Amino acid sequence: MSKHAAGIAGMGVFVPEKILTNADLEKMVDTSDEWIRVRTGIIERRIVEGDTATSDLAAEAAKNAIKDAGIKPEDIDLILVATSTPDMIFPSTACLVQSKLGIDGCAAFDLQAACTGFVYGMTVAAQFIETGMYETVLLIGADAFTRHINWEDRDTCILFGDGAGAVVLKRVEAGYGLISSYLAADGRGADLLKIPAGGSANPGSEETVRDKLHYVQMNGNAVFKFAVRILHEAAIGALANAGMLVEEIDYLVPHQANIRIIDSAAARLGIDKKKIIVNLERYGNTSTASIPLALNDLYLSGKLKQGDNLMLVGFGAGLTWGANIIKWY
Ligand SMILES: CC(C)(COP(=O)(O)OP(=O)(O)OC[C@H]1O[C@@H](n2cnc3c(N)ncnc32)[C@H](O)[C@@H]1OP(=O)(O)O)[C@@H](O)C(=O)NCCC(=O)NCCS
Repeated sequence: MSKHAAGIAGMGVFVPEKILTNADLEKMVDTSDEWIRVRTGIIERRIVEGDTATSDLAAEAAKNAIKDAGIKPEDIDLILVATSTPDMIFPSTACLVQSKLGIDGCAAFDLQAACTGFVYGMTVAAQFIETGMYETVLLIGADAFTRHINWEDRDTCILFGDGAGAVVLKRVEAGYGLISSYLAADGRGADLLKIPAGGSANPGSEETVRDKLHYVQMNGNAVFKFAVRILHEAAIGALANAGMLVEEIDYLVPHQANIRIIDSAAARLGIDKKKIIVNLERYGNTSTASIPLALNDLYLSGKLKQGDNLMLVGFGAGLTWGANIIKWY
């Protein structure tokens, strides 16, 4: 066992003020509040306005986490931002967040694993602490997906919302903190969920804009089936790596994409529904922010106690999937 373990020393979130309800969407596309509630579980979502970018959401969540952890921004050794909607292709959103926090010098980089970004980020961030290289890492999951949504496409525009969640990771006693991770990907599924243009394969041009290639494209049915199967596989993988049984998990914090995905996977896992944290009715799918937003709800509920085992499970474009098990310190 490593000498150092990485645990959550503080947490913070931030969501934009503007609420977009299902009723609002009824006025924009051919949909209904009932269809959205029944097929996804979502009731409303937060969306960015004006010139608010991912780094703004990330920086606010970070400030809240820093305050909660009782540290100073100068104490941070590394800023790691998991996002697939960076402010721009480069520089990294992590560098922009660093500047917004008024610090310099510490390491900063982005990590892209779509909606699995927070789980990948937790795993990567913990390595720096476990090896002893760093003491304090700020991990942020932040996305502004509504910036890349075609508001005329009812298949996708009802699903996403914007937000950010941050954790301060510090050294904790061995045996606590992140005790197991499972990460996986299958690039053969890359076409199922993507933004085709704006990268080096298809740089922005009049044609890409005309053909709406800067918007999210998704094969909803295929992603749904993948998600149900993989949420289960990721959970089992992390449990096996920890040598634990599903009964030992006190709280499951899944990626908040669709209540039917969560319910099906939970039934397959045989986990008590009371242990599952769900808040997608308020935020929709906020991509990398969804797990920390749900985790923060659990944190604020005051139910968490030392020794509780939490499981975070993510899945998303790539395709990517993964899970973390954290023993609460
Ligand atoms: C997108 C999703 C909610 C669609 O639900 P679904 O039950 O699979 O619905 P289908 O795609 O089979 O569509 C059923 C019907 O509803 C229609 N429909 C699709 N979106 C609609 C909407 N917003 N309002 C009303 N009807 C809609 C379809 O056109 C289809 O109509 P048809 O039968 O006349 O062709 C679901 O596939 C899903 O959640 N997929 C995973 C998405 C996801 O999580 N992505 C992010 C992963 S990180």
